Amino acid sequence: MSPFAHITGWGMAVPQRIVTNAELALRIDTSDEWIQSRTGIRERRVASEDQTTASLGVDAAQRALDMARLKPADLDLIIVATSSPEHIFPATACLVQDRLGASKAGAFDLLAACSGFIFALNMGTQAIRTGAVKNALIIGAETLSRIVDWNDRNTCVLFGDGAGAFVLQASPEQGGVISAVMRSDGSGGDLLILPGGGSRIPATHKSVQAGQHYVQMNGREVFRFASRVLGQATEEAVKKAQLSLDEINLIIPHQANQRIIEAALRGLDFPVERCVINLDRYGNTSTASIPIATCEAVQQGRLKPGDKVVFVGFGGGLTWGAAVVVWSAPLPAARRVMPYRYRLYARLRSMIKRLMRRLDVLVWGRRNPYL
Ligand code: ACO
Repeated sequence: MSPFAHITGWGMAVPQRIVTNAELALRIDTSDEWIQSRTGIRERRVASEDQTTASLGVDAAQRALDMARLKPADLDLIIVATSSPEHIFPATACLVQDRLGASKAGAFDLLAACSGFIFALNMGTQAIRTGAVKNALIIGAETLSRIVDWNDRNTCVLFGDGAGAFVLQASPEQGGVISAVMRSDGSGGDLLILPGGGSRIPATHKSVQAGQHYVQMNGREVFRFASRVLGQATEEAVKKAQLSLDEINLIIPHQANQRIIEAALRGLDFPVERCVINLDRYGNTSTASIPIATCEAVQQGRLKPGDKVVFVGFGGGLTWGAAVVVWSAPLPAARRVMPYRYRLYARLRSMIKRLMRRLDVLVWGRRNPYL
């Protein structure tokens, strides 16, 4: 029988800097009352200058690996879901792979906007279920503060920075991720878009002047779409898992807007007490919102081994999806791993590899020694 994919480690990392609604109201035409009543958001975290999408991802990943008692070199696969990658290439996942010292892992980014974490969870699960991969690291990481226009009140009040990570491990025990659905509708691509900086509108003086390097959004249309698909995807994933909604202990939705979540719960006739909402403190952290909310739910004792939980998200693309998971505990491990020792080792290893590349050029010049 094919192995099951269990979530055996989880971790989160958020910047220390808190930006309150009141602080935003000092620079743009908005108010704490407007933001709280329309979105539920009170404050968000904003990365410091030295924090990046990869550095937040590494911090969250390190905590998840520590919990799973896994060495970075045990990883076969790293997927970073992000809407704010450090570059178009190299993939942010490769930067994370290098800094962790995950020397045997294939690493790539997955771009499905805010649904990215659900899509990555499903891809990691499928890789494990085929038997091709034993240990996978799934990360949702964002520095959205770098791609929003802080003078645009329609968008800047919504988003925040942060990262969350899950370790997925193969196990013969039944459970783990038991169903998932993924959907897309590119006809709504223009509703939530970062138009510039890609190959269609390369960054130029003109594109930057026009603000095309910032997130643009049709809030009302996204709201309408999201309220509809959150419930639909939840129902579909639960049905696929051959369960009923009554058997679900907890729903952890993408944290975009409290009114969207409440509308979806009303449609499902699901009690709000069994849903995790923490957007008041973090805003919308895109791909990171579901794993951050999960870490807090575990910490607060709201999610325990054996519980059945639905993760459900939506985002630009348009994309949406959901997964049903039987929550696990870390697998028993023979040894205690010391993650920070590995991090130091990873840095040293990366430096030596860069040095070797330079030495290669010194010894061989521009000549290719392999020809
Ligand atoms: N402060 C004060 N007024 C504002 C602000 C603000 N921050 N932002 C917009 N307004 C104004 C608008 O300009 C508009 O004024 P107008 O009528 O004079 O044009 C008025 O408030 C009302 O705007 P609405 O769009 O009707 O407000 P709504 O109740 O729909 O709330 C919001 C707007 C919060 C953006 C909502 O539409 C929403 O949350 N949409 C979904 C957005 C979202 O979740 N996006 C991300 C999803 S995917 C992902 O996570 C990447």
